Amino acid sequence: MTTAAPDHASTGTFRLMYRSRDRIPADRRKVELGELFLTARSKNKKRHITGALLLSEDFFVQTLEGEETIVQTLFEQIERDPRHDSVTVLESGMVDDRVFARWAMAKVSADGEPDIPLIAHTDGIAPAASRGTTPEQESVLQAMRDAARG
Ligand SMILES: Cc1cc2nc3c(=O)[nH]c(=O)nc-3n(C[C@H](O)[C@H](O)[C@H](O)COP(=O)(O)O)c2cc1C
Repeated sequence: MTTAAPDHASTGTFRLMYRSRDRIPADRRKVELGELFLTARSKNKKRHITGALLLSEDFFVQTLEGEETIVQTLFEQIERDPRHDSVTVLESGMVDDRVFARWAMAKVSADGEPDIPLIAHTDGIAPAASRGTTPEQESVLQAMRDAARG
């Protein structure tokens, strides 16, 4: 394959990771986060956006993957969402492949073992296999966990 352009040169996968401070009041958290994941998963699916959202006590760390303009447009909208503030981009740029290709938006906890306790497949939600993560996912998840620790 010497003549074919690499996949990412034409279509490309753009990945953006940010951290923000959770502003959802404790008594609203469960309901708000439930709604947030529902909306995010259905909208992301339509836009071919995949990724993971890590929830820690004070912070969100989110990875968004997809076509660059679509990811940037979504990120601009997410940035304005009053449910969080102090949004800081940690990483953004083109990557070879999607790391969370099967997840419209995986829910990840900041501590504990295998993470991604509930996996949202693009065709529904299924319990995660206990060792369901790839080394590439683990490396991105580790960066997200580190960011959540500040
Ligand atoms: C931490 C955080 C992560 C979010 N992630 C997404 C996401 O991945 N996809 C998405 O569509 N909306 C996400 N949202 C919600 C958007 O900000 C917005 O509320 C949602 O897209 C609904 O927009 P609409 O009212 O125009 O339909 C997120 C919000 C927050 C606070």
